[in-house]
Amino acid sequence: MRPPVRLEVMRRLITMSKEPSSEIPTRSSHVSVDRYIDLAELEKERIALFRRQPIIVAHVSEVPEPGNFVTEDVCGVPLVVLRDTDSEIRVFVNACRHRGTRLVSDEKGTCKKAITCPYHAWSYRLDGSLLHVPNEEVFDALDRPNLGLRIVQHEVRHGFVWALIDPPDGAALDIAAALGPVLDDDFDAFGLATHHVARKVSSTRTANWKLVMDAFAEGYHLKSLHRTSLSRFFLNGQIVDDCAPHIRQVGARKTLLEAAKGHEDGWDLRRDTTPFYNVFPNAVLVFHPLWLSQMSLMPEGVDRVRVVHRMLVAEEPADEVARARLEKSFTHIHEEVFEKEDLAIAESIQTTLRSGANTSVLMGGLEEGMRLFHLARDRALAELAT
Ligand code: FES
Ligand SMILES: [Fe+2]
Repeated sequence: MRPPVRLEVMRRLITMSKEPSSEIPTRSSHVSVDRYIDLAELEKERIALFRRQPIIVAHVSEVPEPGNFVTEDVCGVPLVVLRDTDSEIRVFVNACRHRGTRLVSDEKGTCKKAITCPYHAWSYRLDGSLLHVPNEEVFDALDRPNLGLRIVQHEVRHGFVWALIDPPDGAALDIAAALGPVLDDDFDAFGLATHHVARKVSSTRTANWKLVMDAFAEGYHLKSLHRTSLSRFFLNGQIVDDCAPHIRQVGARKTLLEAAKGHEDGWDLRRDTTPFYNVFPNAVLVFHPLWLSQMSLMPEGVDRVRVVHRMLVAEEPADEVARARLEKSFTHIHEEVFEKEDLAIAESIQTTLRSGANTSVLMGGLEEGMRLFHLARDRALAELAT
């Protein structure tokens, strides 16, 4: 976020703290519970969202050296993100072209010169081309050039590796255009491209992936669900900017009121607010004062989601005291806030959805981000149908 945008956002938050109606609409809206429990809904999302939208599959700092790889499964498509010896990062489908064995099963690792299938030992160069087929003479006219690993369209931008599995009409991937001017400019101004991953953890939870996105799309629950873990740092409410299909939200930290008494030169966005972004369809970025959280929600079934949480930092901590402070902050946010509160509440909701208590989910004016997320999701599914 550039300085003029920072100031504007902070002015709006200060006004909102005195006049909540300046930013918070009065509105009731609904979405059907079917979208959280119906396999047919997930199937539509699999195609419209997870195959036809760019998805974050890695961060460049996870594959710093030639031969480094990380694996990621995007709604049923296993991928391997690999840095070649010429330093180029590529994304392949993690499946052997002989009979489909998963080529690498570890979450991360290093391939020296080739990837070798564990089944019959076909091997591939790090650029994906077919290197060696044992007993090749027993195959009739093997079409070698077409038996390299399936490559997936990808782009590195803002430090993330984005993959587009099934481009609509063969369109070229353009992350700047997909993010739109607001997010692309904000991420550039935050210097995301020079951050690196200090921690990466993932866990699988028994909830539809959108229930987790819902929890990260609204701040209405801050004073209740997070009353002992987070709420003491924040004022009520947040601003919500529709950057369709994405959303920019900024919550006001309590220090903002003190800062507001002084000159704007003394305002500090990272100290006095928490900006967060819902990057469509399945990623969240939360800018904490000292570091940022990037989460990816990967569906593994209609009521199963793998939540990947990356801790991104701008620079290495200066000393052991600073390192310990960062570690403590990450542990608090990840374990006490995300795992025990946000993800647990998503699982709690999942257990009631088939009970008949509600046929739809109700959202009010403090859940505007959630409403916008579902609108964007519905638009993407509608486009697929036309
Ligand atoms: S399935 Fe990979 S070599 Fe046969
Ligand atoms: Fe939360």
